[in-house]
Amino acid sequence: MAAQKVSTSEVPAGTSIHPHSSPRATPERAGLEWWRTAVIYQIYPRSFADATGDGIGDLRGITARLPELVDLGVDALWLSPFYTSPQRDAGYDVADYCDVDPLFGTLEDFDTLEREAHDRGLRIIVDLVPNHSSSDHVWFQQALASAEGSVERARYVFRHGMGETGELPPNNWESVFGGPAWTRVANADGTPGQWYLHLFDSTQPDFDWQNPWVHEQFRDILRFWLDRGVDGFRVDVAHGMIKADGLPDYTPPADAGSMGGSGGGLEPEIGAHGEAMSPPYWAQDGVHEIFRDWRGVLDEYEGDRILVAEAWVEPLSRLAEWVRPDEMHQAFNFSYLETPWTGAAMRRVVDDSLASFAGVGAPSTWVLSNHDVVRHASRLAVTAENPQGHGIGPRSPGQPVRELGLLRARAATALMLALPGSAYLYQGEELGLPEVIDLPDDSRQDPTWFRTSGERYGRDGCRVPIPWEADSPAYGFSPSGESWLPQPDDWAPYARDAQLDVDGSTLELYRAALGLRAKFGLASGDVEWLPGFADDVVAFRNGGIIVIANTGAEQVAIPDAEVLLSSNPLQRTVASAGTLPSDSTVWLLDD
Ligand code: GLC
Repeated sequence: MAAQKVSTSEVPAGTSIHPHSSPRATPERAGLEWWRTAVIYQIYPRSFADATGDGIGDLRGITARLPELVDLGVDALWLSPFYTSPQRDAGYDVADYCDVDPLFGTLEDFDTLEREAHDRGLRIIVDLVPNHSSSDHVWFQQALASAEGSVERARYVFRHGMGETGELPPNNWESVFGGPAWTRVANADGTPGQWYLHLFDSTQPDFDWQNPWVHEQFRDILRFWLDRGVDGFRVDVAHGMIKADGLPDYTPPADAGSMGGSGGGLEPEIGAHGEAMSPPYWAQDGVHEIFRDWRGVLDEYEGDRILVAEAWVEPLSRLAEWVRPDEMHQAFNFSYLETPWTGAAMRRVVDDSLASFAGVGAPSTWVLSNHDVVRHASRLAVTAENPQGHGIGPRSPGQPVRELGLLRARAATALMLALPGSAYLYQGEELGLPEVIDLPDDSRQDPTWFRTSGERYGRDGCRVPIPWEADSPAYGFSPSGESWLPQPDDWAPYARDAQLDVDGSTLELYRAALGLRAKFGLASGDVEWLPGFADDVVAFRNGGIIVIANTGAEQVAIPDAEVLLSSNPLQRTVASAGTLPSDSTVWLLDD
């Protein structure tokens, strides 16, 4: 069981926060599996480090940068897909689940990376994409070449069209990336034939998970990577594999596009009586049987191997069903990611998260950025309603102010890393990287951009290759200076080497926070809310520290205590003088 407790008890009378005492280490509670407290760093391989010089990051590039990741202080790496793929959705369109795309290297390169990561104490989680394959996958090619009603077609969701001659799609579902969720194929004689379902791009046909054959293949795929020694899987679209019987029509409500990293309408809605009402393609009960089966496969292996759900499911009490004791181990907390930067909303989501996950014995997780959403150093300062899954481009309303975004991002991260449970970081956030908003239109590659004819910018702005060295070609990303998306001209100050050992830099904030988090055992602690603060302020005690985050516009009074960590680089002395500026978080020693 997760050792988590939500407490709203008051500070006992006489409790004070003594300044000037030395930090005291709280040992991690014994017996907790690693993933209950881990900080997991997401690597988006094509944008992390390029060893070959082709402008696309690769596995050898990652291996070469492992020392920097150890130095940062993370516990595990999650690698977005590096499998054989035509890259129509940056690798989330898999053509061979058991091989490495030559763009990223070879299986041997993967083995080397894994071995060297393990030698350094870093766990490796790989991405599993079970909702759909690439249309280049041999299984789909066989389905296309086979007749209607064949076993090959039964692996995917083929249906006859509506209308007199089947000229209309089988139902009204829309792709998450825009446009219809169905594409018609031609028969062997060239006449128009059946339609196949693709909740994402037309190059990503959905599997039919009612077919036991599909289950068998994925058990084998799990075993292939488990045998190679991976520590777990991040399961893509883990709320989408089962569709409601009969594939009924569904019209999302008008505002359904406002959330969900992969595009609009990824979440169930809440009915009139508070019940979750799922679209017929999301969060169907049948998915749970699949995860129970997979859990059995993982349990056959030694060590703690984990399944992590990418499930855009709300409310949190419903998401908790994905992490019941015999299902997955963790689920991304997208409710947290989508919470606005206000005190009341932050307190509510923390309470909800801890209660919902603890209710099923799972650790809470926390996340602020990933490869599908606007980077939080920009998102938190957008001034107009700006649907996250749509990305921000030069013509978007409410453009963020960069300094404010960074200030809030640092404060939000300092709050997140003080919470009990497991936290996810997305490559580059430790450098304070903003979203790249002004990418030239002709460089954009997200299928969302193409499928909406440029109406939605998509996710390229958070996927720009990250800067390592201020004065090297491509900021040290690639020895040739190539970069698959153009890097901004003004990124030198964000480079890792420009921030390393620089007091007040974002990198140093992350290093310090991760070090203190481990030292004080915060990940296995409890949240005890502290009373007496304004509504804009989030204040709690965890382990040996007091955390105070000011989301409001006014500075607030805080206890005079030793400052262990301050998100606001200008504020260290102010904090010890008893005030906390807006958009700032401090960790104080509670002794
Ligand atoms: C997930 C991935 C996203 C991808 C989609 C389709 O949401 O995170 O990047 O486009 O699934 O596989």
